Amino acid sequence: MAKPKVLATRPLFPAAQEILNAGCQVEYWTKPERISKEELYHKVKNSEGLVCLLTEKVDVHLLSAAPKLRIVSNVAVGFDNIDVAACTKRGVVATNTPGVLDETTADFAWTLLMAVARRLGEGEALARSGNWKGWDLDQLVGTDVWGKTLGIVGFGRIGKAMARRALGFQMKVVYADAVRAPEPVERELRATYRGMNDLCAESDFISVHVPLLPETRGLFDAPRFSRMKPTAFLINTSRGPVVDEAALVHALESGKIAGAALDVYENEPFIHPGLKRANVVLAPHIASASIETRTKMACMAAENVVALFKGQRPPNMLNPEVLKAK
Ligand code: DGY
Repeated sequence: MAKPKVLATRPLFPAAQEILNAGCQVEYWTKPERISKEELYHKVKNSEGLVCLLTEKVDVHLLSAAPKLRIVSNVAVGFDNIDVAACTKRGVVATNTPGVLDETTADFAWTLLMAVARRLGEGEALARSGNWKGWDLDQLVGTDVWGKTLGIVGFGRIGKAMARRALGFQMKVVYADAVRAPEPVERELRATYRGMNDLCAESDFISVHVPLLPETRGLFDAPRFSRMKPTAFLINTSRGPVVDEAALVHALESGKIAGAALDVYENEPFIHPGLKRANVVLAPHIASASIETRTKMACMAAENVVALFKGQRPPNMLNPEVLKAK
């Protein structure tokens, strides 16, 4: 029997290729440049499966270009690039890669937090510049992290992994979320529930871990920044549009907050020129980018596809109702 045709918009990793190739006839996009919309629509025409990245938009237009499509497997936990409702309407299964990247992402959010607090970017630039004149008492003095208050916005798996790390820094942890965590979880992580306004007013560091949804778009806007302490820092490893970048630039320029550390941006890969400041640490959306984690994500995406074509339920379905209906 002919294997189902699958298009993968990246070569993935060898371990993921092995899983995918065993069950499917796969075409991998291997060019160094990203697949264009035109190429994607052209290549997906005869595909029954699509393994894609968060940089590919899966909307009604793509779905109409892919009449045979049965599954869209995103190699990411965030899935704001996929119109899940449109997939469901068309009977196309959509999947993501939850769980495997939580600790790695929290590690990186912590890296950003430490880097901005201790002015690592400026220090590194000075050390490499050849202009360093030696130790000095007030040189590149930053701010302490230990013992401060960490505000976690979004207390899902990654938010909780942040809170666990904060215990080692003897920090006070406050969190905001649509849903309050059970009491034993709050106790174990020594985390206290707060409304957004109180969290903003209290925190020395705010780390954002919410998905991009209509209700989280622009969550950090001008009024929010004006509630933060002038000594506070914002760390964002979630999705760029959760922060209103123009308002953030204004808050930084006017000293409403002390700094920011960002891994994600409103219009990636464009970075607002106003963010290229000494008190902002910038990273290119790499919070989950360890070889171990990215390999797990690619394997998980491959397993989701293979499961469907074996007649099984893909383990990470975003729209389980598609299979229930059958
Ligand atoms: C995701 O998975 O959503 C991240 O942004 C990339 O790892």
